[in-house]
Amino acid sequence: MIAGMITVATTVDRAWQTLSHRSSRHQLANFLPPQLIVPGFALKLEQLFTNIFHNALDATPPDGTITVYGHKDQDQVIITVSDQGKGMDHEQRELAMDPFYTTKDAGHGSGLGLSICYGIMIEHGGEINLLPRPDGRGTTVKLVFPVDLPGFRQKHERGEVTTHDQDSDRR
Ligand SMILES: Nc1ncnc2c1ncn2[C@@H]1O[C@H](COP(=O)(O)OP(=O)(O)O)[C@@H](O)[C@H]1O
Ligand SMILES: [Mg+2]
Repeated sequence: MIAGMITVATTVDRAWQTLSHRSSRHQLANFLPPQLIVPGFALKLEQLFTNIFHNALDATPPDGTITVYGHKDQDQVIITVSDQGKGMDHEQRELAMDPFYTTKDAGHGSGLGLSICYGIMIEHGGEINLLPRPDGRGTTVKLVFPVDLPGFRQKHERGEVTTHDQDSDRR
């Protein structure tokens, strides 16, 4: 798996394209600056955004827009993915990252999407949080990444991220 400095805007576009079969009416508004990069694993980050978009599409009416913003703030890259869906109450936001927690009908949700996202953010030395949109309509997923590759490497050396990706690099 490719590890390195990842262009987030490209990863977001790729993730969106993999879901194009799901809806032709939803819009992606990708406002990420093209120079915004984070240290990470390309395919894992694609999966992260795919899972988040899946949820946003499930929650948002078919004419809705999913909006992605991002910026660098000192030693962090902060990215938000906002939808215009039904939103989540406090309890749902507390439980949503738990494996197998789902409010979807049987066969529609495994309840694993956000717990996988949580794991991916831990592997990247980052954080994921669910926020209510200020206007009460929809959900914002906030992702915080560290900007520096040395920090990423040190975490690897300390065993704080899995080595599974390094193994696949060697194949
Ligand atoms: N963007 C969102 N809008 C509203 N609810 C959401 C959103 N994202 C996640 N959720 C809630 O969190 C739960 C867990 O999400 P997830 O772990 O992806 O599992 P699944 O999508 O399989 O149910 C969902 O069932 C839903 O209730
Ligand atoms: Mg999901």
